[in-house]
Amino acid sequence: MPGFTIRPERTDDTEVAAIADVVAAAFGSPAEAELVRRIRASENYLPSAALVAVSSDDGRVLGHVMVSHVGLRRPDGTLGSIASLSPLAVHPDHQRSGIGSALVHAVVAVADELGEPLVVLEGSPAYYGRLGFEYSVPLGISIHLPDWAPAEAAQVRRLANYDAAITGTVEYPPAFDDVT
Ligand SMILES: CC(C)(COP(=O)(O)OP(=O)(O)OC[C@H]1O[C@@H](n2cnc3c(N)ncnc32)[C@H](O)[C@@H]1OP(=O)(O)O)[C@@H](O)C(=O)NCCC(=O)NCCS
Repeated sequence: MPGFTIRPERTDDTEVAAIADVVAAAFGSPAEAELVRRIRASENYLPSAALVAVSSDDGRVLGHVMVSHVGLRRPDGTLGSIASLSPLAVHPDHQRSGIGSALVHAVVAVADELGEPLVVLEGSPAYYGRLGFEYSVPLGISIHLPDWAPAEAAQVRRLANYDAAITGTVEYPPAFDDVT
């Protein structure tokens, strides 16, 4: 198993294609690769918070993660903006070697440096709980989940600028239309 390093993604055609291949292989469908493409093309894209894990041997892309902005409908009806981690993908040939965890730690650190108060996501409480995420609803942040997902799949990571007054319901921008 090769070592790996993490760096911001590049948006040249070769790397964009390599990322799409890894994301599609990880999810076994093209939808999440399309999500990555749409986020990148949107105003919600945070270039410094789109990261790749690359092989230390040959620079191949092994994994990818994105934090981007999504809406938060506040209790008073106004719409704010918060950070959301989606998607996270590690090539099937390179899973279970710490790449996913390292990508999450790295992208959370970037979000913290950007001054984001928190990061939300939909995902396994077992996986993300080990990475500092917690069930978001007790903190007043709701996410509409697919029927099959457990309620605790609504997760949040509190960052240095966390403020308990940030509450509401996540509203995904159009880039997410085909995956939510
Ligand atoms: C989820 C994913 C990113 C994890 O990447 P990874 O590099 O294999 O993760 P790590 O090596 O850091 O961690 C592996 C650990 O997480 C656990 N794990 C992996 N996927 C998991 C899941 N979906 N639910 C719960 N635990 C999971 C494994 O049990 C493993 O622990 P173990 O080896 O001690 O048993 C990767 O499996 C993947 O790309 N999956 C397909 C896409 C996906 O589901 N993305 C997440 C949706 S937000």
